[in-house]
This record gives sequence, C-alpha cells and structure tokens, in this order.
Amino acid sequence: MRPPVAELHLHLEGTLEPAFIIETASKHGIELPWRSLEHLEAQYDFTDLQSFLDLLYVNLEVLRDEDDFAEVTRRYLVRAAAAGVRHAEIFFDVQAHTRRGIPAETVVRGIRSALDRSVADHGMTTKLIMSFWRDLPAEDAMGALTHVLGAGLPIDGIGLDSAEVGYPPSLFVEVYRMARDAGLHVVAHAGEEGPAEYVWEALDLLHVERVDHGIRSLEDPELVERLVRERVPLTVCPLSNVRLRTVETMAEHPLPRMLELGLLVSLNSDDPAYFGGYLDANFDAVVAEFGLDARAVEQLARNSIDSAFLEPDERARLH
Ligand code: ADE
Ligand code: ZN
Repeated sequence: MRPPVAELHLHLEGTLEPAFIIETASKHGIELPWRSLEHLEAQYDFTDLQSFLDLLYVNLEVLRDEDDFAEVTRRYLVRAAAAGVRHAEIFFDVQAHTRRGIPAETVVRGIRSALDRSVADHGMTTKLIMSFWRDLPAEDAMGALTHVLGAGLPIDGIGLDSAEVGYPPSLFVEVYRMARDAGLHVVAHAGEEGPAEYVWEALDLLHVERVDHGIRSLEDPELVERLVRERVPLTVCPLSNVRLRTVETMAEHPLPRMLELGLLVSLNSDDPAYFGGYLDANFDAVVAEFGLDARAVEQLARNSIDSAFLEPDERARLH
C-alpha cells in the first residue's frame, strides 16, 4: 500500500483516453483527422513538447458541452482514486476552449460539477487551476482572467503552460499580479524544455508558489540552493519527461539527484493518457528504475502533501 499522495500537476485535457476521444467525436458528429482508434493510437510517438502539443490540441476539440467536461473530470477522479490520490490540483487550458467558441462558463461549470462530488465519491479533495498558453499574447491571458474573475467562476489558482522556449515568464508579470491581487494561487511551468533562467523569472517576477517540472534548474547550482533554502515545490513528471524526450531515458532522469539535493519534489502524471500512465505508473517507473525504497516513496508522497494548497487541518489529515 502506498501512503496518501497528492497529484499537483495534471492537465485535464491530457486525460482524454483515445477511446473517449473517438466516442465523443462521434457523439458530436466531429470529423477528426484519425480514421480509427488504431490510427489515433499510432500518433503517440513524440519527438519533443511541441509534437505532443500538436496532438493534444487537436484531440481536445471533442470537448464541447458541460457534460463532456464533467465526464472527463469524473473519469480522471475514478482513475486517480485507484492510483491512491487523496488530493488533486487540476489544470485546464482555458484558451484551448474559448478560442473555439466554448465559453469559460461551460468549461468551469462542467469540471466543477464533477469536482463537487469527489469528496463524497472518492474521499478526494481538489483544487482547480486555470492555465494560460504562454505562446499566446499576455493580453489574451489577461482578457480570460478578467472575464473569469468578473463572472465569479470558481477557480483556485492560475498556471502557465504550452510551448515554453521563446515565451519566458517575464511576459506574464501583469497577469500574475492580477491573479495574486485576486487571492488566487499561482504556479507556472518552467525549466521543462526552457532554461534555468525561466525558473528564476517565475520566482522573482511571477512570485510563483510552485514550479511545474523545473528539472533544468539542476543546471544552475545557485538556483538549486535557493529552491532548497526556500522549499519551493517542484512538480516532476518522469514518464512525461521521457516521452517528450526532455530526458533521454528513465535511467538518466534527475529525480534521484533532486532528492539527494534536498529539493521538495513530488511525482505527477502531467498528461497521463498520452505518456503511458497515471500517478501509480509514475511511481512504479521510478521505483523500478532507481530501486527506491519504502522511505523514499514515503518522502515523495509526503512532499506532495507538503506542496499542496491545503489548509493545515486538511494537510494533517493526509500526513
Ligand atoms: N500542456 C500539457 N502538458 C504540458 C507540458 N508538459 N508542458 C507544457 N504544456 C503542457
Ligand atoms: Zn504540464
């Protein structure tokens, strides 16, 4: 039995399983570029982040109505509960939907209707984090945030994702200021494909509370020292890093070094339907590769709970 664990880096759109994509396209009469389930499944060989995003962004277009968003969320919660997840903080990419005419209201209400049942159904608490595509102009993100805040849609935080290199955190200073002023939690992807410099920027300019991925921080000893000293959580996604060729093989993954250095790292599945498994598969992969013992597994689980946006009593319940 694994100790209670929190999943903090999970893109809802990355949980659409191939069969669900085909079924939902058929429900709405959408023509996908894939002739069959097999044709779709043949697309999952990625060369880098962009090659994956190209597929992700086509497939997520099957999500059209509130029930689609509720259903994909329900399915994730069932699968995460089976993996031992007791608390989940879930990203959705707002512009992936609004840019094709799906209102943020439809997206958030659909997701929330499923999240609202997760304590009763699975004993799992949740948070919802609205992410912005960093390869779109910051004004676009600002517009989306202004709308969601004005409409009073219930989100708990904001994040930053999509193509990283060439789109530094410094572009989003105003967006993050607005979010912090509104009392939202703030996180950002940084140091996945992009350099350690982007992690500095995320900390110093966006004032993020957590860094998503952050594995390239290891290239900068001064940054590592700061991350350790300030106990900045890094949400690491081993299967994702291998499938997107951010690291060449699991054997070369920096996770053991990150633990040795005393970084506050947690394990996460990122886009589990695309990268070969949910949180349990990520644990299994690193245990198998690095022979982590029960203490190391417990440390990773404890780190995830320490890194979560939980109230002290909720944290104590999970420790
Ligand atoms: N969107 C979904 N998964 C992502 C990742 N690993 N990096 C950046 N954007 C993403
Ligand atoms: Zn991610």
